Amino acid sequence: MENKKTQVAIIGAGPSGLLLGLLLDKQGIDNIIVERVTGDYVLGRIRAGVLEQGFAKLVREAGAAEKMDRLGEIHDSVEFAFNDERIELELKKLTGESVIVYGQVDITKDMMEVREQKGLETVYEASKVQPHDVKSNKPFITYTKDGKEFTLECDYIAGCDGFHGVSRKTIPNDVKTEYEKVYPFGWLGLMSDTPPINPHLIYAKNNRGFALASMRSKTRSRYYIQVPLDDKIEDWSDEAFWEELKKRMPKSARKNLVTGPSIEKSIVPTRSFICEPLQYGKLFLVGDAGHIVPPTGAKGLNLAASDVATLYKIMTRVYKEGDEKCIEQYSPIALRRIWNGVRFSWWMTDLLHNFDEKKDDFDKKMENSELKYFLNSDAGKKVIAEQYVGLPYEDLE
Ligand code: FAD
Ligand code: DHB
Repeated sequence: MENKKTQVAIIGAGPSGLLLGLLLDKQGIDNIIVERVTGDYVLGRIRAGVLEQGFAKLVREAGAAEKMDRLGEIHDSVEFAFNDERIELELKKLTGESVIVYGQVDITKDMMEVREQKGLETVYEASKVQPHDVKSNKPFITYTKDGKEFTLECDYIAGCDGFHGVSRKTIPNDVKTEYEKVYPFGWLGLMSDTPPINPHLIYAKNNRGFALASMRSKTRSRYYIQVPLDDKIEDWSDEAFWEELKKRMPKSARKNLVTGPSIEKSIVPTRSFICEPLQYGKLFLVGDAGHIVPPTGAKGLNLAASDVATLYKIMTRVYKEGDEKCIEQYSPIALRRIWNGVRFSWWMTDLLHNFDEKKDDFDKKMENSELKYFLNSDAGKKVIAEQYVGLPYEDLE
């Protein structure tokens, strides 16, 4: 058994863990990240593409924004399409803010590189990772690496280990409440080196279901379609995907669809999930470890970033001012913003997907009326836009 020591032990080297680690380091707070898989495996997960300005600001503060600011695309608008009717939401005009289109894989890689340049320790391929004594003043993590057992002593543990991680399981069942809603469809995503169908993202819906046209650059597109939960990826050839996508895009956009071989294709389930509280003793849940949203509002990674912002401010106050009491502010502050994101993602999901068997004729009429109401007035558009670009971060008391 080998012993190590740090101030903040971080479990998970996804975007939450990496961002938190770099920010803590900026304040002179020591941290070590322990990750279950290899760095390449982490980078193989193609997920988010839309970043709020709050996220971008944090990445700049963390010193990892050079590529994001050079290669990321600023989007001042986003489009909705219902059947063949297209409605542009002018984000910048409506809110004064825009979003940045830059891939999660790229931002993760940028942060990994900065971490390595700074010589900050990340233990990849750690197995049997387990937090201990999180209610005491001497919490620690144990893990195994290359057949050797390690103990990592620390002051605090940041559980940044995603939905399937160990951190949330450490909070006893009689202390936590979990809220969950599983939706009756998945998202089939395809990435291709083809120019995007449209300069803005298009969130589209018609009688065949939901489709999203997104991108990573002028030459790389990312598309998604709603599929039944039991569909298997082997059932979807590239040709079948393109054909279905085309049918779900508005007619006026179809002629601009350039198809090509997929470079990645996968199906993800969709759910809303929230764990309360997000702090238990010296353990904090950050990002997907504590909450999941369906991807429709592009909020998952952005909520992870606001958790990081809150925990970073708290840790800074703890170590600079000796105020340990302020750790109790983490869960209420983080959860207030999370529930807003959960509601927005649920609302977008409800409006933009076909729930055929789940909605009766009355529900469908209500849905149609709601869409018309929100998308045909400036006030309605503003309500959507201000949430899409991201609500403000809350300060500590
Ligand atoms: P993760 O990315 O899950 O990282 C957790 C890390 O912890 C992983 O590397 C994992 O290997 C590691 N780990 C797990 N268990 C252990 C263990 N026991 N020990 C050690 N390490 C462990 N969000 C947006 O904001 N905008 C979008 O446009 C968007 N689009 C999306 C599209 C899709 C298709 C999907 C699936 C998600 C999308 N999201 C989006 C959500 C976003 O991808 C997630 O919210 C984000 O990955 C959360 O980051 P995280 O670091 O908290 O968790
Ligand atoms: C992407 C993913 C989303 O969930 C979303 O709402 C917008 C864009 C993307 O992967 O590009």
